[in-house]
Parts: sequence; C-alpha cells; structure tokens
Amino acid sequence: MLASTPIPESAERRAALSVAVTARTGLDPAAIERFLRAFYGAARQDTLLGPAFAGVADWERHIAVITRFWCSVALMTGDYHGQPMQAHAHLALQPAHFRRWLALFEQVAGAELTPQGAEHMLERARRIARSLEMGLLPLPLPATPRPTAQGQPA
Ligand code: HEM
Repeated sequence: MLASTPIPESAERRAALSVAVTARTGLDPAAIERFLRAFYGAARQDTLLGPAFAGVADWERHIAVITRFWCSVALMTGDYHGQPMQAHAHLALQPAHFRRWLALFEQVAGAELTPQGAEHMLERARRIARSLEMGLLPLPLPATPRPTAQGQPA
C-alpha cells in the first residue's frame, strides 16, 4: 500500500479507527463512492486528464476498484490488493497530469465532502500522488563524468 499511515495491528483496532474516522469526517463507503463518481465524472471531461481515461473499458469496475482502494486508504478497511504503480505505467503521465488530478480532487472533495472529510482524503491523495509520481517519473540523475580505463574521469 502506498499510504504511509501505519497499518493498525489488528482487525479490531482497524475497525475501531474506522468508526472514529467516520464519526470525525462523515466519510463512509457510501460517501466515498459518491465522491468518486463525481470526481471521475469530472476527470473524464477534463481536457488534460480525459484522454488518459478514454481507455477505461469498464467504468463500473473502475469505480468498484477505486472505492475499495479509497476505503482501504481512508477507513483502513484493508480490502484493496491491487498494484497502482503498474496500473499507471503505460499512461505516460507527466507532472502536469498529477497537478491537475490533485487540483480536481481538491475541488470535487470540497464540493462533495465535509471539510474534515475533504481534508482527510486530500492529505492522503497528496501523499499517494507524490509517491506514484516519484515511482513513475524518477528524476534524472545529474550527469556524472564517465571514468576512463585508467579510472580517471574523462
Ligand atoms: C495523474 C493522473 C492520473 C490518471 C490520468 C490516472 C488514470 C488511471 C487509469 C486510466 C487507470 C486504469 C483504470 C482502468 O483501466 O480500470 C487508473 C487506475 C487507478 N488509479 Fe489512477 N490516475 C491518475 C492518478 C492517480 C492517483 C494520484 C491515484 C491515487 C491517489 C490513483 C489511483 C488509482 C488506482 C488505485 C487505480 C486502480 C489500480 C488497480 O487496478 O488496482 N490514480 N488510473
């Protein structure tokens, strides 16, 4: 899992934390799914993000997978077992895609969720987006002089 929140040590503890998050933020699986339908509805229409989503063959499947992902991340349900890095590897995403994705996520979260719910989701989205972006777009290393046969830089 990409989120850096420590995984609670037992199912009971996870369930208790999940109840506390719902009480504090209003986030539950139904609210998360509603928000995600609005977010992906907007993302599909977006000039920059839309083309990347054009290849999604089954939107109901994507909403189901992504709802499990966000319930795992935000409510610690632990029932997402996918590979987000691989899922994006073929999309040729650029930093601008991540900036736009996060801006839209923030905008839709602000409209669809409580302020506490939006903050809870956004904090995690920023962290995961950063880790995805770093994994998919490694920064180029500074050029280092290549050693010659004698071991001296050329
Ligand atoms: C930067 C812009 C992004 C674009 C254009 C994008 C696009 C996509 C696409 C096309 C898929 C495959 C959907 C399918 O075929 O069913 C996908 C899957 C997914 N995306 Fe993104 N994504 C982006 C950023 C993110 C970010 C920031 C997150 C998390 C915070 C995320 C989480 C996921 C997850 C969990 C999946 C499902 C992986 C699986 O199949 O298990 N994406 N995304």
